[in-house]
Parts: sequence; C-alpha cells; structure tokens
Amino acid sequence: MLIALLPGDGIGPEVVTEAKRVLDALNIDGLTYEEAPVGGAAYKTLGHPLPPSTLDVARRADAILFGAVGDPDCDALERHLRPEQAILGLRKELGLFANLRPAKLFPELADASALRPEVATQIDMVIVRELNGDVYFGEKGHRTTATGLREGYDVMSYNEAEVRRIAKVGFETARARKGKLCSVDKANVLETSQLWRDVIIETSAEYPDIALSHMYVDNAAMQLVRNPGQFDVIVTGNLFGDILSDQASMCAGSIGMLPSASLDDGKKGLYEPIHGSAPDIAGQGKANPLATMLSAAMMLRYSLDLPEHADKIEAAVAAALADGARSPDLGGSMTTAQMGDAVLGKL
Ligand code: IPM
Ligand code: MG
Repeated sequence: MLIALLPGDGIGPEVVTEAKRVLDALNIDGLTYEEAPVGGAAYKTLGHPLPPSTLDVARRADAILFGAVGDPDCDALERHLRPEQAILGLRKELGLFANLRPAKLFPELADASALRPEVATQIDMVIVRELNGDVYFGEKGHRTTATGLREGYDVMSYNEAEVRRIAKVGFETARARKGKLCSVDKANVLETSQLWRDVIIETSAEYPDIALSHMYVDNAAMQLVRNPGQFDVIVTGNLFGDILSDQASMCAGSIGMLPSASLDDGKKGLYEPIHGSAPDIAGQGKANPLATMLSAAMMLRYSLDLPEHADKIEAAVAAALADGARSPDLGGSMTTAQMGDAVLGKL
C-alpha cells in the first residue's frame, strides 16, 4: 500500500518526520512511501502549490499523510497560487468531502485546556465537517458597486445531495459512538442553512436510533466553552466546521493535539493535524508532533484497515503524556524530536 507524504510548509516537515518515525517503528509489512512537495514549498520549487506531479502521487496513493501549508512569503501571490489552495485542491480533486475532527481531552492535559479542568475533562466529541462545498468553493471575486465602491463577494451554497452525503457520515459516526448528533447551522438567517436543516431532518428518517438536535452556530460556539461535554457528534458545513474545530481544539488542551481525517466515499483519505504551518515557530524544534502522529493512527484505522496498529500509536501517545512529555504548547520545553523519542520509547 502506498502512502503519499506531503510535508508542506512551516512546521509541516518537522511534524511529519516524527510521525514517519513512529510509522517506521511499527514495522508494517507492505507499506511504501512517496514524498512530494506541496504548498509554498511546491510553489517555490515547481511554480505551483499543487503541481501535477504531487496531485498524481496523491491520486495513486491509498492514503495521504499531510503536514501543513501556509507561507507568509506567498501572501501577496494571486489567490490560485497561494499555499492554501493546495489543500483545498486536494480535497476537491480527490472528492475528500468528509472531515472527521475528533476532540478528546487526554486527562493529563486538563491543565493545558483554556477551560476549567472539570469542564474540559468532559470533552469527547467528533466534529464532522463538510469539505467540498459552501462558501469555500462558491463563486467569488471582487467587483465595483454602482457607487464606485470596491466590493468582495463569496457565494455560499449547498445542494441537497451534498448535504445528504455528509449527513449520512454524521449519523453513521454517531451510531458508532454515543448515538447523539447535533447539526450546526445558521438557519435563522441563511437560506443555505435552511436547506441544510431540511435535508438533515429528511435523512434522520433512516436513523431512528440517533438522537438528533439542531443548534445555531453562534450558540454552538458558546456551548463549546460552556459545556462541551453535551456534544457527541457535530455535523456542520465547511466554514462553520473550520471555525468550531479550532475552538474545540483549545478546549481539548492544545491545537497541537488534534488529528483529522478527510475521507472520500470509499477508503481513501488524507490525514493531517488540524493546526497550520505556524511559520513563527518553524524550524525551531518547538512544534508538537502528536497531532500528526494521531493523524497517522487515524490513517491506519480508516484507510489501511490496521486498527491494532492505530491503537498502538494512540496508547504510546497517551503513555508519553502520562510520563510528562510536554512540548511548549503544552506548557513544557521538549523539542519536536524529543516528543518523538518519548512516543517511540512507549511503542
Ligand atoms: C483547516 C485549515 C484550512 C481550511 C486552510 C489552510 C485552507 O484552516 O484545514 O482547517 O480553512 O480548511
Ligand atoms: Mg482551519
């Protein structure tokens, strides 16, 4: 089985290196790797953030382990050449529409959460975020108003098929957990959200065993810090999911801890930490590699059907934390490689 390694920009290469050490230590038969540049790193060497050669590796691979993209050097480029377009392009080109972002607090990290420990320890949820539609992929541009003002616009839309397929992932995810699904929208204001809510309710007829609720996104943001323990699975659109998953990560200790999977309708997936390229700390050995290791565990579980190896990584991460392994984001001073050593020591 082929794994595409796309380290990308900033801290991406550092964290992917540590995750690859962990994968190597598992000695899994039949895994092969191909590495390719992506994001600003690809723009600088090949002139495009998602060059055809990289897209080709990603298409051929059974799974993709992704670091991060984003590079301040590229901020002034036209939008289609900016690093972020690489991850958006991969999600769209490969039909990776279902983004699973689990947020669970490792008990040892209760003090790292922005919430009081008794609130934070309750967090154990999955955000199911739609990735191929919404305002991210609608018509967008700049124009001039009738009175001569510059105006930017991005069209938000979802069709019913797009909502139905992510709804099913939400319901199935809830079924495999505690059976509670909360759909987050802004149906009090947005037509896109009204259609979203209607289709979620229609789909719920196929899942009578799941307790479905609906929440406006502003309330959801508030409830995530007030009482995150109330959530089991949240299903939501691309933009709301982007925002709420960053928020959930800080409730769960650190953005350096949260993995994610972006899946198509089969077994293929792209696995990445939810944090970005963090250019301010790139190359300094300060990045926390645990989110990428946990993403590799998700890859073994969802794309490669190797749950026992996924369990080993997750257990080793928990054991390393229990032993006091802490990178700066967790209030410690261990380097990226030392965090890698700590996890390898537990494997
Ligand atoms: C994420 C990121 C991306 C997104 C960026 C890098 C385009 O924030 O994966 O959450 O907005 O989806
Ligand atoms: Mg984001």
